[in-house]
Amino acid sequence: MRRLDGKIALITGGGSGIGRASCLAFPRAGAAVAVVGRNLARVEQVAQAIRAAGGQALALSGDMSRSEDVQACIQATVQQFGGLDILFNNAGVSPSGSVTAISEAEWDACLAINLRSVFLGAKYAVPELQRRGGGVILNTAGTFGLRAAPAKAAYAAAKAGVINLTRAIALDYAHDNIRCNAICPGYVNTPLNEGVPLAERDAFLACTQPLRGVIGPDEVAELALYLASDAARMITGQCFVIDGGQQAGMIG
Ligand SMILES: NC(=O)c1ccc[n+]([C@@H]2O[C@H](COP(=O)([O-])OP(=O)(O)OC[C@H]3O[C@@H](n4cnc5c(N)ncnc54)[C@H](O)[C@@H]3O)[C@@H](O)[C@H]2O)c1
Repeated sequence: MRRLDGKIALITGGGSGIGRASCLAFPRAGAAVAVVGRNLARVEQVAQAIRAAGGQALALSGDMSRSEDVQACIQATVQQFGGLDILFNNAGVSPSGSVTAISEAEWDACLAINLRSVFLGAKYAVPELQRRGGGVILNTAGTFGLRAAPAKAAYAAAKAGVINLTRAIALDYAHDNIRCNAICPGYVNTPLNEGVPLAERDAFLACTQPLRGVIGPDEVAELALYLASDAARMITGQCFVIDGGQQAGMIG
C-alpha cells in the first residue's frame, strides 16, 4: 500500500517549482492529481508526465485569487475523480518592496494571490472534504512569514497571514477530521528565484543558512507528501520549516 493510494488531490501552482514537484510526487504515492495553474499548456505538460508514468491527472487553468476559478477547479476535480481528499494551496508570487516603494495595487495583488487564494481554496474545499469524512489542507507559507525580510513588506505580511489562517482552519474543522498544516520553505531552487543572480544567492545562503547546499523543490514535495498522508494523522495547525537551518539562529 502506497502512502496516498485512493486519495484525490488538487495542487495549485502545479506548473512549476514546488507545485510541479508535488504534482509528480503525489501520484507516485498513489494519488490522482488535479494540476492547477495559470498557464494551461504548462499544467497540461505536467499532467501528461504524470499519465506517462502511469498516474491519473487532470490539468486545469485558473487564477486562484478569483473565487469563480477556485470553485470551478474544485468542481472539475470532484467531477473527474469523484471527490477531493487533499487541497494543496501552493500558488504564490513573491514581489519585493517596502511599504513606501509598493503601490496599493501591488499590495492588493500580493495579498490576493498569496493569502486570499488560501481562504478561497479552504472555503470551497472544506464542504468536499466533509463529504469524504475528512481530508487535508496544506498551505505553502514561507520563512518570511515567520521573520520578515527587507523589502518584502507585502509578501511577509501575506505569508504570516497564511500561517495563522492555517491554525484557524485547523481549529475550526478538526471535528470534521480535516487537518490543516503549513510548509515554510527557506530559499528553494525554483523559477520564483530565477531573477536572483547566482553570486547573490550564494552570498545570501553562506551567511544565513547553516547547512550547505540549495533546497530543491523535490525536498519540499517530500515534506508535503508526508503531511498529506495518514502517517501525519495527528498533526494539524502546525507550520513546518524546511530552510537548511536558517531559523535556528545566527551563524558565523
Ligand atoms: N522558492 C522559494 O524560495 C520559496 C520560499 C518560500 C516560499 N515559497 C512559496 O512556494 C510556493 C511555490 O513557489 P515556487 O518557489 O515553487 O515558485 P514558482 O514560481 O515555480 O511557483 C509558483 C506557481 O504559482 C503559480 N501562480 C502564481 N499566481 C497564480 C495565480 N493567481 N493563480 C494560480 N497560480 C498562480 C505560478 O504560475 C507558478 O506556477 C509559493 O507560494 C511561494 O511563495 C517559495
